Amino acid sequence: MKILVTGGAGFIGSHVQDAFIVEGHDVTVIDNFYTGRKNFIHPDCRFYEIDICNKDAILDLFINEQFDIVNHHAAQMDVRASVNNPMFDAEINIIGGLNLLEAAIKTSVKQFIFASTGGAIYGEQDYFPADERHELRPVSPYGIAKLSLEKYLYYYHKVHGLRYFILRYANIYGPRQNPHGEAGVVAIFSQKLVKGETSTINGDGKQTRDFVHVNDVVKANLSVLDYPESMIVNIGTGIETDINTVFKYLALVSGNTVAAHRGPAMKGEQLRSVLDNTLAKEILEWTPEFDIGKGLKHTYQYFK
Ligand SMILES: NC(=O)c1ccc[n+]([C@@H]2O[C@H](COP(=O)([O-])OP(=O)(O)OC[C@H]3O[C@@H](n4cnc5c(N)ncnc54)[C@H](O)[C@@H]3O)[C@@H](O)[C@H]2O)c1
Repeated sequence: MKILVTGGAGFIGSHVQDAFIVEGHDVTVIDNFYTGRKNFIHPDCRFYEIDICNKDAILDLFINEQFDIVNHHAAQMDVRASVNNPMFDAEINIIGGLNLLEAAIKTSVKQFIFASTGGAIYGEQDYFPADERHELRPVSPYGIAKLSLEKYLYYYHKVHGLRYFILRYANIYGPRQNPHGEAGVVAIFSQKLVKGETSTINGDGKQTRDFVHVNDVVKANLSVLDYPESMIVNIGTGIETDINTVFKYLALVSGNTVAAHRGPAMKGEQLRSVLDNTLAKEILEWTPEFDIGKGLKHTYQYFK
């Protein structure tokens, strides 16, 4: 199939791009290198340096390439940056997304896969783990923008017949990740431990997240390719891990005995986040293969 991966020079998108190429698909990547890296782009894909906010360039690309599927990973994905500058976040995460959706319907794209967030879209959860029916109360402009694009997808599906698949990722970590994402703490601690520097844990470190290894996310992206229905599915492990435990595991694999420094709690930081993956198991036969111990060891080796 002919697939466009947006943000394919980034952490998750680059792994997804690699897997599509291995599966024999015809892959095009676009990225503007906001955080992405040239050396993450697979040599066998067609690459265009295009900003998703450039409406005309996006439409020209879609007309010239005639994609079957769009896999949308490009984003401003730093929650704190979205708090500091909601307009900038909306420009990329809402308007940029709309440019792709408009081009998709004008060129009869068959399916639009969207990397949404289960970490930020539910807000402080009422119950644990959150399933897809949990109320949506994002408390950051980033989460609001992701929710907006989910709603636009529903509209483009109902009114223009565009099939979609929304993957609500938990906190993704693994090789190539950068410190700005929703599981950025893994990259931050790993880099500090490799250099023998002291890490800082904000607050009491009992905040929990649902950490998913990027290889498991790639599997989810493969399994939804050309899925016949439009769906929203959580991609999480269902397991909560607190920040103290993440540090403990990484310190153990690094052999570094430097204790972490305790910093002040971050204002407004979500306390607990964990996603129910029953639906992913049922409809995609997706189960995470990496537990946190194996995943962190693998990730630390990469940073080393
Ligand atoms: N990392 C996580 O834990 C996590 C969790 C939930 C959802 N997501 C979503 O997954 C996707 C990928 O996240 P990631 O962690 O790989 O982040 P990333 O920053 O590594 O990747 C995003 C990519 O998009 C590119 N990009 C940014 N703005 C662009 C623009 N205007 N035009 C073209 N390209 C642009 C960046 O250069 C980068 O290569 C994002 O949509 C993010 O919101 C990530």
